[in-house]
Amino acid sequence: MSNTQNASHDPAESNRDDRSADAVTQTTAGESQEETQTEWTDYEFRGEPKLSVDDLDVYYGDERALQGITMDIPENSVTALIGPSGCGKSTFLRCLNRMNDRIKSASVDGSVELEGEEIYQDGLDLVTLRKRVGMVFQSPNPFPKTIRDNISYGPRKHGDIETGLLARLLGDDSGEREEKLVERCLKQAALWEEVSDRLDDNALGLSGGQQQRLCIARCLAVDPEVILMDEPASALDPIATAKIEDLIEELAEEYTVVVVTHNMQQAARISDQTAVFLTGGELVEFDDTDKIFENPESQRVEDYVTGKFG
Ligand SMILES: Nc1ncnc2c1ncn2[C@@H]1O[C@H](COP(=O)(O)OP(=O)(O)OP(=O)(O)O)[C@@H](O)[C@H]1O
Ligand SMILES: [Mg+2]
Repeated sequence: MSNTQNASHDPAESNRDDRSADAVTQTTAGESQEETQTEWTDYEFRGEPKLSVDDLDVYYGDERALQGITMDIPENSVTALIGPSGCGKSTFLRCLNRMNDRIKSASVDGSVELEGEEIYQDGLDLVTLRKRVGMVFQSPNPFPKTIRDNISYGPRKHGDIETGLLARLLGDDSGEREEKLVERCLKQAALWEEVSDRLDDNALGLSGGQQQRLCIARCLAVDPEVILMDEPASALDPIATAKIEDLIEELAEEYTVVVVTHNMQQAARISDQTAVFLTGGELVEFDDTDKIFENPESQRVEDYVTGKFG
């Protein structure tokens, strides 16, 4: 590993010829300079990647938020994304289901494939993409509707539960199907026991931890393949956090989970592999979680996971 200063890896370098010596230190406080090695992110795993990201750059206006990210995300496992504030974790997560399309100033360059299909191709159906790649946000955001309606809203919108006169005339018992779906998703999200007798209550009356599990249940209701989570437990108390963590581990048996967290212990506990993003929107190291936390290749990663900066 090299600790030598390498100016060409300073993200500001390409734009600024007149960079002063002071500018070199304008990275996250305490972060050492080091030459990033491409092999540190060459994570080898068995099986096929669910998502393949290749040379991804993201800009907000003229500001680059991510640079040259290349990584394959294995299926049916938990991938943790960690790194200091502002290093681009949320930006990266949003690239995986094209949520950045909603941000006017954002431009994305590079490739993301979902099971070999380019998601940035023209004409791709974004509704289908976001059904396959669901998202759970940092603050729980249930709809101001009943618990039941929170779950059935998505499937109804996608036509998985038919409602209306035609369905009734055809003898389609959508009520029963809806009932089953609501129960299955709430059970999967470990919330059923707590809410089974109040499904018609407003979801906003639930506690924060319950609301977050409801949002996970709502995400599961449309039958996704990938679940993106952006700090899903950061607003919760330790007990609610433990429930979400258990849930994430269980979900990985059936789904591909990508989770952003600021909590190192959490990343170490729940993830199979960990990607470390550092200042300048660079992916510095990606490997088995044990390796990242016990014996990383990069000095900066070691400093970060041991709490020396960030
Ligand atoms: N909508 C936006 N418009 C302009 N700049 C943005 C926008 N969203 C993020 N950025 C910038 O892009 C960079 C990466 O932000 P991002 O939110 O992805 O970081 P993060 O790693 O998720 O940080 P945190 O840990 O604080 O959530 C930051 O410099 C941020 O200011
Ligand atoms: Mg973020």
